[in-house]
Amino acid sequence: MSLELRPLHPLFAAEASDIDLRQALEPSQVSAIERAMDEYAVLVFRNQALSQTEQVRFAESFGPLDLGLRKLHGGAAHRLDYEALIDISNVAPDGSLAQRDSRKVVSNIANQLWHSDSSFQQPKAQYSMLSAVVLPSKGGETEFADLRAAYDALPDDLRGEIAGLEAEHYALHSRILLGDTNYTAEQMATIPPVRWPLAQIHPGSGRPLLFVGVHAREIVGYSLAEGRMLLSDLLEHATQREFVYHHGWQVGDLVMWDNRSTIHRGRRYDLTERRELRRSTTEDLLPVRMVA
Ligand code: OGA
Ligand code: MN
Repeated sequence: MSLELRPLHPLFAAEASDIDLRQALEPSQVSAIERAMDEYAVLVFRNQALSQTEQVRFAESFGPLDLGLRKLHGGAAHRLDYEALIDISNVAPDGSLAQRDSRKVVSNIANQLWHSDSSFQQPKAQYSMLSAVVLPSKGGETEFADLRAAYDALPDDLRGEIAGLEAEHYALHSRILLGDTNYTAEQMATIPPVRWPLAQIHPGSGRPLLFVGVHAREIVGYSLAEGRMLLSDLLEHATQREFVYHHGWQVGDLVMWDNRSTIHRGRRYDLTERRELRRSTTEDLLPVRMVA
């Protein structure tokens, strides 16, 4: 099966065509996409206006789906037809524009900090698929940074220092950074922090990668201050312009990324305009391998 691939960046990311994601995929198509993901880490499919049902079916071809932070708000009103579709929008459940100070908008803004989806939980996320439904007139692009290129470019001393180190990731850290601190003790405990090695081997390509992002709040065995400073330096390193693919959205785009080998962030936009995307995400069920 041929999946047509056109690189979008010197290091990673490709536009994938010659496939209709609205149809149930053949096993050979699923493996062609998996192979392309192992190589490129970000695939852009244009003109694929999937229905919600089609998006869930497409996502389920790659494994069980993750609900992300929705488990904190169990039973809360949801605008989409499936629990497993994550509403990446500034729209309230009743269809009106969400209030600027609402948790919904805070969560949109939290997505503007560099992160890997669900890195705050076990299992974390493998693939995310984000489909654009309504876009603002400007802004609201999404950027992706290549964590394998970031590892390759680490100076030897830093590579040596992070070998064997683990970072602790916590679900509410990004929210707390943005001033959204009003959580019950029960909510704070719903998703306990998890630890991931800073230097990991990407299972599909065998390449080492630097696993950082905003959910990481400390380095195990370091003082809080020293750990946060190192995390912030590593994140700055990983997100240098030459490691970043910038995606300008068109309605009907579906962008699929590997959360193990990339981090991403949304860009600012005018919150009085609607921006509606739908995300489906699969769980990363493979054991995480540390760089020896
Ligand atoms: C996401 C995300 C960024 C954006 O859907 O996981 O982080 O640009 N989105 O909306
Ligand atoms: Mn995200």
